[in-house]
Amino acid sequence: MKNLFKILASLAFVSFVISCGSDAPDADPMENKGIGPISSVTLGDINPAMAEEGEKTFKQICQMCHRLDADHIGPALRGITNRRSPEWIMNLVMNTSEMLQKDPIAIELKRKRAATMAVGDLTESDVRNLLEYLRTQE
Ligand code: HEC
Repeated sequence: MKNLFKILASLAFVSFVISCGSDAPDADPMENKGIGPISSVTLGDINPAMAEEGEKTFKQICQMCHRLDADHIGPALRGITNRRSPEWIMNLVMNTSEMLQKDPIAIELKRKRAATMAVGDLTESDVRNLLEYLRTQE
């Protein structure tokens, strides 16, 4: 009986250690704002005019490599605003090469792919409009 207790106690200890160990990699991605010029974005109701502008830019530039519902050269982007913070998305577009070198999520995405994201210069308002468009594609 004593031995059984010891076994149960050590099993509980081992599972406790395992669950602690897995905490770090599961850090909430929505808490990560990325690295770049955008430190804070306040989201209100979706602005349809901004989303429409964003859709144009998406079709001109992003669609070379991204589809909404399928992985293409880059990952599928439907629902991306539920998986990444607005700041992270904008920083990835505005500061792509530094993000791909230093941000843990971006590094992990790059590791899985042959191609690398590259976007020409876009203004902050272009990229904010893109974010607004992506918010409509949940
Ligand atoms: C030349 C191809 C290319 C273009 C153009 C491109 N991307 Fe990407 N994108 C990628 C690749 C590849 C990745 C994965 C990271 C890597 O390997 O560089 C990525 C990753 C992303 C991610 C992260 C996805 C995730 O699952 O977290 C977002 C968001 C994104 N791109 C948005 C955009 C937007 C918005 C545009 C248009 C301004 C754009 N991308 C243009 C290739 C591209």
